Amino acid sequence: MALILGIESSCDETSVAIVENGERIIAEKTASQVEIHALYGGVVPEIASRHHLENISALMQMLMEESKTDPKYISAIAVTHGPGLAGPLLVGISYAKALAYSWNVPLIAVNHMLGHLNAVFLFDKTISLPCIVLMVSGAHTEIVLMESLSSYKILGRSVDDAAGESFDKVARMMGLGYPGGPEIEKIAKVGVPRYRFPKPKPAWKYDFSFSGLKTHVKYFLRDEPNVKKEDVAASFQETVAAVLVDRAVKAAEEYSIQDIVVAGGVAANSALREKAYESFEKNGIKFHFPPLKYCTDNAVMVAAAGWQNYKAGKFADLSLNAVPNLEV
Ligand code: KG4
Ligand code: ZN
Repeated sequence: MALILGIESSCDETSVAIVENGERIIAEKTASQVEIHALYGGVVPEIASRHHLENISALMQMLMEESKTDPKYISAIAVTHGPGLAGPLLVGISYAKALAYSWNVPLIAVNHMLGHLNAVFLFDKTISLPCIVLMVSGAHTEIVLMESLSSYKILGRSVDDAAGESFDKVARMMGLGYPGGPEIEKIAKVGVPRYRFPKPKPAWKYDFSFSGLKTHVKYFLRDEPNVKKEDVAASFQETVAAVLVDRAVKAAEEYSIQDIVVAGGVAANSALREKAYESFEKNGIKFHFPPLKYCTDNAVMVAAAGWQNYKAGKFADLSLNAVPNLEV
C-alpha cells in the first residue's frame, strides 16, 4: 500500500490531497483564488503566488488532521512542476521539497496535464487502451494517441489559442467575468445557437485553431450590436464543441479506437458533453469525462499521476525546479 501526498499550485488553486494507490481518495483540501483574480479579469501571477504561500500550510494542516495521517505513513510527495505559472509552481515545489526533506520521503515531479488525464482514469474504470485523449485546458489543446499510461504520441494541437483561452477571451469581449468558460456556459443555457461561426481548419488534420473564431466573434459583436449576447455565447460554444468532437472522432476512427478521454478544465462544458454524446449515438465511439469537480485543477489528480511514477520508480531530487512550458 502506498499513500501519495499530492500538491498542486500551478495556477489559481492551491490544493493538497492524499490518495492511496492512485485509487482511493483519503482526504483533499483546496483553496480557490478564482474570486480574487476575477477582479482583474484573469490570473495575476504574483498575487497568485502570494495566496498560495498564505494558504498552503493551513491546507496541509487541515489535511493531516482530517485524514488522521501520521507523516511516517506517507510513501511519497508528488508535486506539479509544470506546465503553469513559474511563481505559483515554485510555491508548491518548495513546500513539497521541504516536506520530503523533513519527513525523509521521496519526491515525485508531476506533469500537470498528465494529472488532468489521471483524473479521468481514477473515476472511470471502463476505458480501454489504446485511447485518444483530448486535452482541453486554459493553456493546452491537444489530441494524443495513448497506448498506455506511460506511452503516448501527440497527434495534433492548437496552432494558436487553447480552447479554454478562447472561452476566456470571448467572455472578456462580451463583458463577462473570469474564468470565461463557466460564464459563457451559464448565459448560453438561455441562448439559441442560431449563428454559424467559422470552423478554421489548419493544414494538419488533427490541429486546431481558435484565434480566427475569436476575431470573428469580436467583429460580429461590433457589426451586430443588437444581437442577444446569450445567442452569441451559445453559437460560440457550439462551434468550439463541434470542432473538438469532430477532430477527436476523426483521430479515433483513423486509428480504429473506441474510447476518447477528455481531460482539463473545458471538459466541464455541458455543450461539449452533449456533442460527445450525440456523436456516440451516431458512431459508437465513447467519450469519457472526469466528474465535474475534478475537471479543474486539484491535487487528487496530482497524487494519482504521482502513483504512476511511484510504481515506475521515477523520483525527483531536491534540485527540482519549475518548468512553466513543460510539454505533455
Ligand atoms: O484545467 P484548468 O482548470 O487549468 C489549466 O490547467 O489551464 O482549465 C481552466 C480553463 C479556463 O480557460 C476555463 O475558462 C476553462 O478551463 N473552463 C471551461 C469551463 N470550466 C472551465 N470552459 C468551458 N466550459 C466550462 N464549463
Ligand atoms: Zn489545469
